[in-house]
Amino acid sequence: MTSSAEFADRYGPLAVVTGAAVGMGAAFARDLAARDVDLLLVDRDERALETVALELETDGATVRTLVVDLASPDAADEVCDTAGDLGLLVSNAAIGYVGSFLDQDDDGLLAQLDVNCRTPLLLVRRVLPRMVTRGRGGIILLSSLSAVRGSPLVASYAATKAWNLILAESLWDELRDTGVDVMGVLPGMTRTPGLLSSSPQAGLATTNLMEPADVAREALDALGSAPSFIPGEANRESHAFMSSLDRAEAIKTMGDVMRATYPPERQPDPSV
Ligand SMILES: NC(=O)c1ccc[n+]([C@@H]2O[C@H](COP(=O)([O-])OP(=O)(O)OC[C@H]3O[C@@H](n4cnc5c(N)ncnc54)[C@H](OP(=O)(O)O)[C@@H]3O)[C@@H](O)[C@H]2O)c1
Repeated sequence: MTSSAEFADRYGPLAVVTGAAVGMGAAFARDLAARDVDLLLVDRDERALETVALELETDGATVRTLVVDLASPDAADEVCDTAGDLGLLVSNAAIGYVGSFLDQDDDGLLAQLDVNCRTPLLLVRRVLPRMVTRGRGGIILLSSLSAVRGSPLVASYAATKAWNLILAESLWDELRDTGVDVMGVLPGMTRTPGLLSSSPQAGLATTNLMEPADVAREALDALGSAPSFIPGEANRESHAFMSSLDRAEAIKTMGDVMRATYPPERQPDPSV
């Protein structure tokens, strides 16, 4: 593990964290502030964003905020124009959806594609040239354990997360001689407002909920060491087990776990 000073030398002075108002984004922000990195926190939830910023400023961090809808076509440009020169991008904001694929309407699907894929892609494209020229920097793209294989009831979401995983791993190799570290992070179920609002049934999938602070700390410690990283020993064991199965069996097992975690009465009502 690198010291705070080494981390800030490598990935400072400024980090941008998207979806920083709550959950894992706020946890990344707290951990980065403790590593002496200045912050631009991005989210659409102004009040929650200001609460996190105030907390970190009170602890001595240098923090700016940007309220923006990351589904908008200009979002990446707005973030980059506001940030200026940055050393680390944590692309964390995402739209989740649990339920039958057929119940997700076009607007929801396309917003998910914009927030989870389009804007992260443009952010990466915009921030990389300066990082490469400088010869250092880092990019973390939040993926998910659901990205590794077919994940019933989160089909579109899981596909967007697979897209982030492959982008990160590909760039890890393409850029590994430039001094810029790119890494995909694959959390399992983590206790965040987004996860809790999906109302998972207590059981198999929720017994090992990780805390956002642990995900952020492990991911930041791992940056530079691997193309992708799974936080949490239990998640790594579960991944190893699922990878040992025949692919069709693994997808069916995932479907069984998802249907047990989200029985029909817990899935969103498509008429609402
Ligand atoms: N929690 C898990 O179990 C889990 C597991 C695997 C991977 N992940 C990944 O980890 C990351 C963080 O997840 P999380 O559970 O911490 O998320 P979360 O609790 O839902 O928080 C996400 C934050 O991003 C914001 N956001 C969403 N859409 C936005 C938009 N269009 N413009 C600006 N901000 C927007 C949200 O604002 P609103 O509240 O207004 O929507 C919220 O503040 C995501 O990439 C997710 O896919 C999470």
